Amino acid sequence: MPSVLELAARRRTVREFSGEGVSLGDVLKALDAARHAPSGANSQPWRFLIVTDPEVKARIRRAAEEGERRFYSRVSGGLREWLLSMGFGPEKPFLEEAPVLVLVFSKSGAPYSIQSTWLAVGYILLALEEAGLGTVTYTPSDPAAVAAAAGAPDDLILQVVLPVGRPAGEGRQRPRLGLDEVCRLNDWETPCAARGSGWPVGRG
Ligand SMILES: Cc1cc2nc3c(=O)[nH]c(=O)nc-3n(C[C@H](O)[C@H](O)[C@H](O)COP(=O)(O)O)c2cc1C
Repeated sequence: MPSVLELAARRRTVREFSGEGVSLGDVLKALDAARHAPSGANSQPWRFLIVTDPEVKARIRRAAEEGERRFYSRVSGGLREWLLSMGFGPEKPFLEEAPVLVLVFSKSGAPYSIQSTWLAVGYILLALEEAGLGTVTYTPSDPAAVAAAAGAPDDLILQVVLPVGRPAGEGRQRPRLGLDEVCRLNDWETPCAARGSGWPVGRG
């Protein structure tokens, strides 16, 4: 069984899906993992909507792409450059091509609702990876419009849409900063790895 580190290192964003179906059981298992995530005051503010109905998926895609077209008409600067370099545009075919969409909502007014919900999303990503499933953390430019297309109640805020399916190809591994670039030990000069990984911490 792969370790958490192995799953985290192996996972990559998937935007193209094979035509294969997925087991709803695997998706539910990932959401089961998510409900064990920590949350502010244990408020468990995450709510999930699984969508498999092609008509609902098409409605969600239409709402999402309308928002993206508005976004792309006004985006500028470094973000625009990055989006273009990645070949991104307002079309989001994965919203219909993926066999399953998982819409992740946070309950408005719950303590640390957004932070807690995104922690749960991290759990989902690793659990999907364990099941050999791919996804993209698609954050719509107009989340309220997508939530409305999904018929969501007013007290739920759409955080992310996770199209889930079998990856069509290998996907591309994105570069990561090294541990020494993102972690310091006790002060801001000492890289964490300077002591090696075997050093004892804490008492005794
Ligand atoms: C908060 C967040 C929002 C993201 N929004 C989008 C998005 O709207 N569309 C998209 O295609 N990818 C989105 N991504 C995926 C990132 O582009 C991707 O994780 C990043 O480029 C690193 O690639 P990797 O996941 O393959 O390692 C998002 C990721 C995160 C964590």
